[in-house]
Amino acid sequence: MKKYLTYDDVNIVPKFSEVLSRENVDLSTRFTRNTTLSIPIVSSPMDTVTELNMAKEMLDMGGVGVIHRFQSIEKQTRMMKLLHYEWDSWYNIGNPEKDRTDHTQVFEDWYKGVRHWNSPPTKSDYEDLHELLWFADEAQKDEDYWSKRPLCAAIGTTGDYLERAKELVKNGCNVLLIDVAHGHHKLVGDALEKIKKDIQGVEVVAGNIATREGAEFLLQSGADGIRVGIGNGSLCETRIRTGVGLPQVSTLLDVVTICDDFDVPCIADGGIRNIGDICKGLGCGADSIMLGSLLSGTKESPGQIEKIGEWPNEKLFKKYRGSASRDSKGNDKNVEGNHKVIPYKGKTARILTDIKDGINSSFSYVGANNLSEFHSKVEFVEVTQAGQKEARPHLLN
Ligand code: XMP
Repeated sequence: MKKYLTYDDVNIVPKFSEVLSRENVDLSTRFTRNTTLSIPIVSSPMDTVTELNMAKEMLDMGGVGVIHRFQSIEKQTRMMKLLHYEWDSWYNIGNPEKDRTDHTQVFEDWYKGVRHWNSPPTKSDYEDLHELLWFADEAQKDEDYWSKRPLCAAIGTTGDYLERAKELVKNGCNVLLIDVAHGHHKLVGDALEKIKKDIQGVEVVAGNIATREGAEFLLQSGADGIRVGIGNGSLCETRIRTGVGLPQVSTLLDVVTICDDFDVPCIADGGIRNIGDICKGLGCGADSIMLGSLLSGTKESPGQIEKIGEWPNEKLFKKYRGSASRDSKGNDKNVEGNHKVIPYKGKTARILTDIKDGINSSFSYVGANNLSEFHSKVEFVEVTQAGQKEARPHLLN
């Protein structure tokens, strides 16, 4: 029988490093074949994690939020429309000023402005030109960055899923995510092929799978991103109710090789309890990490803040629930998740900043300047239970 390991079972080996400053490493990555992120973080399409506010925050911080599907088409589409509006205001689509990225145009405009009948441009005119061209390059970088940002929303594979997909794309969505528990399924393959045939200009992330065969099936059906992880979510009851699922580290090591063969990015989803786990997931070869519980209970997560207790001893909470929980489904059929109240955490930006700092340091510990170097340099060792105890603060135990 095969032996499979998960995040706590492994540690990353430190290596010779020439990274001069942790701030200088590049955290950019691909979310799908053609969309990019500046941090490798994705917020989960759960109804207590990602609606408009979280999606906007993720967009601003360089990650991506996947707007959940457990709501009417109208509501989800409206969120996508507003997200697209936010993106548009950054990207400045349709703004004639966009021509400022064109060096020839910048030069011609400058020349018209400085032409004197019988005197050539002065030194200060040339300094102005230098600055204008620098702005043009910066504007070009901005344009490249914003034009490749994913605006992503989740869909299912039955009922009105195709209509939902079409409405989302009409309102600005450029990446659809097929959000089902068992992605190695005929229905998912059929949905992928149908979307690819019927809707132009959209990429599709599919999942969830936990095997190389599952990934291959989705890649052959046309997936542009693969979401990996079965039975490993923090509120997940799949393994105790069905016995099915695989520990995430070995799963990722297995799946990333086939994703690489198809040149399609892979998202490690679920089971992340701390920033170290994020680094381990990336070290396994994942291109981005999807978070549920780590981003739950924040200001930008959906839902009311609940007060428990009386002033001055009151405590603030928000709810986090599994998409297949009784709380979410409203009945007892096929329940495979739970719910929990989470102490209120404040702004998502603070959590994302901590995550960025942690990944920066992890890159530095192995001597990697970017994710591709990290992928090739990371080496894992398996740790014993004593090693796991040592890995946590233990002075007070
Ligand atoms: P974390 O550990 O980040 O996991 O909280 C988030 C991921 O968990 C999955 N998910 C579920 N899995 N039953 C499950 O078996 C559920 O009810 C459930 N809800 C969410 C999902 O992949 C999510 O991104």
